[in-house]
Amino acid sequence: MEFENILTETKDSIQYITINRESKLNALNKATLAELHTAFFNAFNNPLVSGIIITGAGIKAFVAGADISEFVNLDAESGTTLARNNQIDVFDLIANGNKPVIAAINGFALGGGLELALACHIRIAAETAKMGLPEVTLGLIPGYGGTQRLTQLVGKGKALEMILTADMITAADALNYGLVTHVVGQEALLDKARELMLKIISRAPLALSAAIRSVNAGLTDGVNGYETEIGEFGKCFGTEDFKEGVAAFLQKRKAVFKGR
Ligand code: COA
Repeated sequence: MEFENILTETKDSIQYITINRESKLNALNKATLAELHTAFFNAFNNPLVSGIIITGAGIKAFVAGADISEFVNLDAESGTTLARNNQIDVFDLIANGNKPVIAAINGFALGGGLELALACHIRIAAETAKMGLPEVTLGLIPGYGGTQRLTQLVGKGKALEMILTADMITAADALNYGLVTHVVGQEALLDKARELMLKIISRAPLALSAAIRSVNAGLTDGVNGYETEIGEFGKCFGTEDFKEGVAAFLQKRKAVFKGR
């Protein structure tokens, strides 16, 4: 599939998605969001892909936000539609994905860029990265899940301070807040993401999906996460991978999982 705003490459069962609008600091315009939808949808449904790493082109920005130039003619109704559609098509799609997604934050992750990273399952950052939700400087609030996912990750006080001040935080602050789980040098970022992903995708694929669904369930309104966990735990016993995992343990060998 040919894309204009993103690059995709699959290596060792990992799909790399690179947002490639470097001259606009990888800002998310409509076309890029549509391509992200397609790329993630395809990756989640491609049996040759086990995990996804998303990053931004260049060393300056992961994504500097939604493309502000496209906001000019929006009104209350079209603004609502924009947020609803993109939340469903891109941000929720990623968050609810059946395969692990790591955001490798290589520079500015602002507004919709930070929200994109927040929708991923794990975030790691280059030590030069800066993160923030500056929407209130534009007379807006985060609209791609930022008020919810940032709060879930760092707690209400820190989330509201970041959202209300619009201040950027450093990678070191983000690590301290629990917003990212590793901070490494810029040049080591993709290697770290790959190392982490290779470890994750060596585990049983159906168990990985079940774990993502169960963790997400506890953060979803009206869903009992414990019940989801019980159901998903039970279903795991019906998989070939469970039999293989236990057999490999007892035979003191490495498990070979098939995702069945
Ligand atoms: N939407 C559209 N274009 C953007 C953008 C965005 N969110 N962020 C950066 N760009 C564009 C700039 O307009 C500029 O384009 P130009 O060269 O055609 O003028 C280019 O990317 C480079 O950005 P610039 O502002 O010149 O870089 P800088 O190093 O001076 O500043 C930032 C970097 C990130 C501090 C600054 O670009 C910024 O504040 N961006 C907007 C962040 C934001 O509010 N995001 C939330 C959106 S809801």
